[in-house]
Amino acid sequence: MKSNISTELLVDSHVKFIQSLGEDRDLTYHLTTHLRMNAVYWAVTALCIMGRKEALDREQMIDFVLSCWDDEAGGFGSHPGHDAHLLSTLSAIQILTIQDAVDRMDVPRVVKFISSLQTSSGTFAGDHYGETDTRFSYCAINALSLLDMKYLTPGTAVIDVDKVIDHISRCRNFDGGFGSGVGAESHAGQVWVCLAALSILGRLDIVDEKTLGWWLAERQLPNGGLNGRPEKLEDVCYSFWVLSSLSILRKLHWINRDALISFILSAQDPDDGGIADRPGDMCDVFHTLFGIAGLSLLGYPNLQDIDPVYCMPAKLIEKKGLKKTWLALPRHLS
Ligand code: FPP
Ligand code: ZN
Repeated sequence: MKSNISTELLVDSHVKFIQSLGEDRDLTYHLTTHLRMNAVYWAVTALCIMGRKEALDREQMIDFVLSCWDDEAGGFGSHPGHDAHLLSTLSAIQILTIQDAVDRMDVPRVVKFISSLQTSSGTFAGDHYGETDTRFSYCAINALSLLDMKYLTPGTAVIDVDKVIDHISRCRNFDGGFGSGVGAESHAGQVWVCLAALSILGRLDIVDEKTLGWWLAERQLPNGGLNGRPEKLEDVCYSFWVLSSLSILRKLHWINRDALISFILSAQDPDDGGIADRPGDMCDVFHTLFGIAGLSLLGYPNLQDIDPVYCMPAKLIEKKGLKKTWLALPRHLS
């Protein structure tokens, strides 16, 4: 990063940054194939929030998603030829939902793939190698609900929903937060996946909202940025994990809005676009999305609303009848 810190969101530069991703087929490009499907989801979602969805070609995007189909497993990998994984399958469903092209995939097989990953303790593995994590429970719940709520509804459910809720409740800690598994330390990213899954399943009643609200608000540091756990450095992506959790709890006003906006904007690259994890670092599409998503939740002017449960355009989720009771800050006019 070279020039001065900017005090406003550099939309045009960020759109160009996103359009340029993948132009240089350099070493980094080849080393990140395992994240390619996620990166496309992060890119298109960031563009949607900035009102610039058309900046990436729709057909090319759909073709890429379909080229990652793993016919043996019945799910999507992150790159053509990669094994199917729950995380890339969720990203594929999110992209196809945003592009109104879910009918281009084999929904029954995908549903079968997702349900096959639930373990006997109620949690989910990411793939058939078996590593479990509350992130994967969220991926399954999000994906199935996007495909059709009937897959989670008593009588027609394809997974054991009570066991999912029971497992998430066993991952809850004394500080009100949640970890990646039973007994694991509270972490804002894991808090978000657990809250969002519970929100989709209508079971926020098992959350200690006040204690957790405090824990989340305490993530703000004197420089305005948010960290993911006590004693950790601030990081722009926590602008989404923490803020979306607070908005699900309807306590977003517990954060100092202006200080966080300044922190996020200071992590932009004014020359080449993009947002980094913190000022002065290299930008990437992951932190670009979560910085812009955080700004949207804070009511930053001229952005589209993001749904904090799905991390997808709010209008789309509302149209699908999936909107929950979250609350973002009112949008400022300028
Ligand atoms: C921090 O991870 C973030 C998390 C643990 C949550 C990740 C959530 C998913 C993968 C679910 C799908 C996400 C979306 C947006 C639909 P980290 O590994 O960066 O944590 P660290 O800061 O401690 O290294
Ligand atoms: Zn980060």
